[in-house]
Amino acid sequence: MDDLLEATSGTRLAGSPSDPLSGAVEVPGDKSMSHRALILGALASGETRISGLLEGADVLHTAEALRAFGADVERAGAGEWRVRGAKWKSPAAPVDCGNSGTGARLMMGAAAAFPITATFTGDASLRSRPMDRVTSPLRAMGARTEGGTLPVTIDGGGLQGIRFLNEKASAQVKSAVLLAGLGASGEVEVIEPSPSRDHTENMLRAFGCDVESSGGVIRLGPRRALEGANVVIPGDPSSAAFAIVAALIAPGSRVTVRNVMVNPLRTGLLGTLREMGADIRTRDRRIEGGEEIAELEVTASVLRGVEVPASRAPSMIDEYVILSVAAAFAEGPTVMHGVAELRVKESDRLAAIVAGLRACGVEAREEGDSLRVEGLGGPPPGGAEVSAHDDHRVAMSFLVMGLGAQRPVTVDSADMIATSFPDFVPLMRSLGAEIA
Ligand code: S3P
Repeated sequence: MDDLLEATSGTRLAGSPSDPLSGAVEVPGDKSMSHRALILGALASGETRISGLLEGADVLHTAEALRAFGADVERAGAGEWRVRGAKWKSPAAPVDCGNSGTGARLMMGAAAAFPITATFTGDASLRSRPMDRVTSPLRAMGARTEGGTLPVTIDGGGLQGIRFLNEKASAQVKSAVLLAGLGASGEVEVIEPSPSRDHTENMLRAFGCDVESSGGVIRLGPRRALEGANVVIPGDPSSAAFAIVAALIAPGSRVTVRNVMVNPLRTGLLGTLREMGADIRTRDRRIEGGEEIAELEVTASVLRGVEVPASRAPSMIDEYVILSVAAAFAEGPTVMHGVAELRVKESDRLAAIVAGLRACGVEAREEGDSLRVEGLGGPPPGGAEVSAHDDHRVAMSFLVMGLGAQRPVTVDSADMIATSFPDFVPLMRSLGAEIA
């Protein structure tokens, strides 16, 4: 495992105007599901077998952390993992979640269900991100917590139920409450004014737990013990997004992305790109391992700017950086509403997008909680070095921009790409992308 974590370092990279992209690729396993499969496996009795696990640094940090809580976590082959759950114990040292908000927030919830004390920490980016959104409902359930940003200490056990209003439509916060609820006495209910990704609910059911969802209310039933399960993890739509937009903006391209999860709570980007005029065909739609998957065939397209309503944000929350790149090529403005949460992601993504696009000759600005990109109706100038703000999705998005721009786009550091998509560069090169 240490080898896998160490193998994930990158460098300064440039994306350059490329010949048409072509071919078929499979993106790595979904990051959200990978964290959840490991965590539920570590809470379950018996063995959990996972295939297609994303072996990015974020998920590997979660695997390592779960060992510190007492679970037996083993790599059986590429993407093949086995987990034996345990009653969690207090880790001997602070739990390092690396760059991963999902790992930190979900494990804080899970740990609160046990009579243990655990301190969570992470890298500089994660230590700056708000954790009170999780510690506050955990305290309402009876946990003792210290710290509003990492390091945060959770002193768990003896939890009672909660009716929690998930105002920010955060799947991480919802999941933390549900996982804590596994060890709570009494009703556990999360009310969602707008729905966030439902992988925790779906996977809890696959592990034998009663979870009801209807009318925006998610409720744990009386059966809250988990039994080991087999989990097959499909391709991550948030990683597929980079190959899709690259194919749309590099003239003459035609690319197929196979085995992409198309859970409707994750496909806001596809709908938005189609509204912009993108030729994206869905083929071979089917259900595997409890999630809808499909093959996406993408052809380079002339795009036009659109308004993206705030209500769509939860279904594309990680895709605004790459959407902004597509918007730069589109004819006319694209305005994305209700995107304040982007300020507290792995970086302040609103600031990163505006600075990066402007450096590449595209006007963009924040307007309150909206983001406006003035599309050029063709290839932007590029020819700049952009700061990735140590954010994987910012780095990948601007490398993609360079593939269709007039001149190369360089990112100052591509290191963080390894958190979610370690093979991004070879995969994009296999389609013909000039990234070096
Ligand atoms: C995730 C939820 C989202 C998303 C993150 C993964 C998850 O975060 O941005 O990359 O796996 O639950 P929020 O819950 O903060 O919206």
